[in-house]
Amino acid sequence: MDHFQYKNGSLHAEDVAIAEIAATVGTPFYVYSTATMTRHYHLFTEALSPLPHLVCFAIKSLSNVAVLKTLGNLGAGMDVVSGGEYLRAKAAGVPGDRIVFSGVGKTRDEMRLALTGGIRQFNVESEPELRALSEVATSLGVTAPITIRVNPDVDAKTHEKIATGKKENKFGIPIARASDVYAEAARLPGLQVIGIDVHIGSQLTELEPFEQAYLKVADLTRRLRSEGHTITRLDLGGGLGIPYQRSNEAPPLPTDYGALIKRTVGDLGCEIEIEPGRLISGNAGILVAKIIYVKNGEDRDFLILDAAMNDLVRPSMYGAHHDIVPVAEPPIAAPTQEFDVVGPVCETGDTFAKGRDLPLVTEGDLVAFRSAGAYGAVMASEYNTRPLIPEVLVNGDHFAVIRARPSFDEILNRDTIPEWL
Ligand code: LLP
Repeated sequence: MDHFQYKNGSLHAEDVAIAEIAATVGTPFYVYSTATMTRHYHLFTEALSPLPHLVCFAIKSLSNVAVLKTLGNLGAGMDVVSGGEYLRAKAAGVPGDRIVFSGVGKTRDEMRLALTGGIRQFNVESEPELRALSEVATSLGVTAPITIRVNPDVDAKTHEKIATGKKENKFGIPIARASDVYAEAARLPGLQVIGIDVHIGSQLTELEPFEQAYLKVADLTRRLRSEGHTITRLDLGGGLGIPYQRSNEAPPLPTDYGALIKRTVGDLGCEIEIEPGRLISGNAGILVAKIIYVKNGEDRDFLILDAAMNDLVRPSMYGAHHDIVPVAEPPIAAPTQEFDVVGPVCETGDTFAKGRDLPLVTEGDLVAFRSAGAYGAVMASEYNTRPLIPEVLVNGDHFAVIRARPSFDEILNRDTIPEWL
């Protein structure tokens, strides 16, 4: 459920008309709903209660500092994968003891940044990383709390580009070698082993792969304890999928996911962390665009929008589906027409949807891409020198621009001309 609904014949974000935002900030833009994010965050905290837990929002899915502050104020932790994301979490006022640092290639500078600014734990992904972190922590005279990410070799049954839990993926250490790696971690100075981390992929639409992975983590917890390690925390990653095609998709709910966690690892006496991104932010955001032209091609009609693949890359990168709806509510049983929905970028890959059945729309009309809150704005680029588009946050009946559209001067001034030219 989200808070983008038609009211009085026009699409609203909570109590704000999308058309009103468009008139103020211009198109295209992203708009996020505070109520939807809040609701989704609470679904997870309720699903995990009464287990001791922390829901760490995966910043990579939507990293605007105002969004992070919204979630941080509710008590959320943050899952970061770069120094930049760490600084965003801190800028949002999230204390270090609620920030976990994931990622397969943390640099020594990033480790130093987090150890100095405060960190809940590092999720270490390899032996070389373990040694580097030990060195950095020792040189700073501090102890780094760590979990080690294990790769359980489980098929997440999701798009191959976002599956992370198979042995051929670059992530984590092979679960079969965990005993050796934990033994090394226990020997190294400057590290305190506190738990186990696992994350098998994103946009999972079934619970069964989670179940396989978490049962392996439960076994490993018992084994490592028997080998003398103190395991008090399990980070179970993110990945719960969302319905992108509302008419025919119904992925498992956070309550089912919470019940699965309780069933598989709930009796180990561990504090549970999860790192959901998409389920909190995905359906809390839409991308609004304007139709520049309706073009009649040889064998199909094109809707040419003022948004493009640089603004929302998921369809061209993963073949992802996003529902597209007109901002003005179409009458019930209004006639529809098939369109290829495209952007102005100069490549055929700049296609949002092919043969999409849409109510009759015309030049100048606004349309909205649903489920665009996660991996939308954060993956945008300035390809074709198209400025990054604004982000807007709605809360009840008011809205604020939380990232402004840059001017062309700002963009051009970032380039510098060498003195020989
Ligand atoms: N934790 C770790 C270690 C991750 O790598 C990810 C996502 C998450 C948590 C959050 O997963 P979520 O709950 O959002 O599924 N750009 C792709 C998705 C990439 C996901 C990368 N890792 C897309 O647009 O579908």
